[in-house]
Amino acid sequence: MTTRIIATGAYVPEQVITNDDIAKVVDTSDEWIAKRTGIKERRISSGENTSMLAVKTARQLLERAGVEAETLDLIIVASITADYATPATSCIVQKEIGATNAVAFDVSAACSGFMFALSIADKYIRAGMYNNAVVIGAETLSKYIDWSDRSTCVLFGDGAGGAYIEKSETDGIIKEEIGTKGEIYDILTAGYTASTGAFNNYNTDHLWYVNMNGREVFKFATKSVVKSVERVLSDAGVSVDSLKYVVPHQANTRIVEIISHKLGIPYEKFYINMDKYGNTSSASIPIALNELNEKGLLKRGDKILLTGFGGGMTWGTMLISW
Ligand code: UT7
Repeated sequence: MTTRIIATGAYVPEQVITNDDIAKVVDTSDEWIAKRTGIKERRISSGENTSMLAVKTARQLLERAGVEAETLDLIIVASITADYATPATSCIVQKEIGATNAVAFDVSAACSGFMFALSIADKYIRAGMYNNAVVIGAETLSKYIDWSDRSTCVLFGDGAGGAYIEKSETDGIIKEEIGTKGEIYDILTAGYTASTGAFNNYNTDHLWYVNMNGREVFKFATKSVVKSVERVLSDAGVSVDSLKYVVPHQANTRIVEIISHKLGIPYEKFYINMDKYGNTSSASIPIALNELNEKGLLKRGDKILLTGFGGGMTWGTMLISW
């Protein structure tokens, strides 16, 4: 028994912010951003919070899968930019779509969040506990961006993407792994709130914003993804040649180029859309997967690989027979 993706969906805010727009507020240029990252524009929310992006994605997933909300067993939202510390964003999704019989919780694994959430949902389904799940990555990272810091503000965007998954006897998830390296957690952080003592006061400081050692994250990304993909393919006994597409975390085209080179997987097999959305953290892989699916580029039985890395530090790779 395995777990199969039956439907994909995504929602991004309407507002497009181009590299030229950002160059009006910080000392940067379209040329620098495009050359160093591959990003040309991103969507930035002008009021919709993370839960709203997730709800719109969930509604689309149910519609596309042709299932009633009451039949849903499980809702997992991966996010690091939830509306509230509590409730979980997934509980808001549950209410808004009317999934009265589902259990709902969130997962925090930054840009690997969708991979972690899919991995967890898959285990519940394989164990026979649930028959189906909605898994969503949703972020409004713009809430955590220091718009005067050119080293980070050019990279990120807002959006949500997800999958409706079901128990399957045939095609589906073949092999996967998730991993963490907490010892270097401090190379990428966001949303720090200090507990300052004295009767529960707390304050926020510059560590509220995304803080990143870009070069170290770059090194971690190329190493961890390459090793993870190698392990998953070797465990599955699947060669790189049999892969139809790789859907990588959409952070930087230079990272993808290195991964492509090291793994010997042609760059054309990597599905890239970071030029339009930037890095949407946990939403990046499902937004790209949904685009690939919407374009009709996936056929039943195609072998595809999802792989990402992110804060934590974390990584996750999944080999799927579509
Ligand atoms: O989901 C995980 C999220 N994070 C990532 O995936 C990030 C991984 N890292 C990266 O993608 C790259 O490290 C960055 C794109 C963040 C930076 O690229 P880089 O080639 O590593 O640049 P750098 O940090 O080494 O900076 C090179 C120069 C510096 O100037 P000097 O010191 O050489 O004069 C920076 O100040 O580029 C400068 N710089 C910029 N210039 C124009 C940094 N950001 C900008 C900018 N515009 N936006």
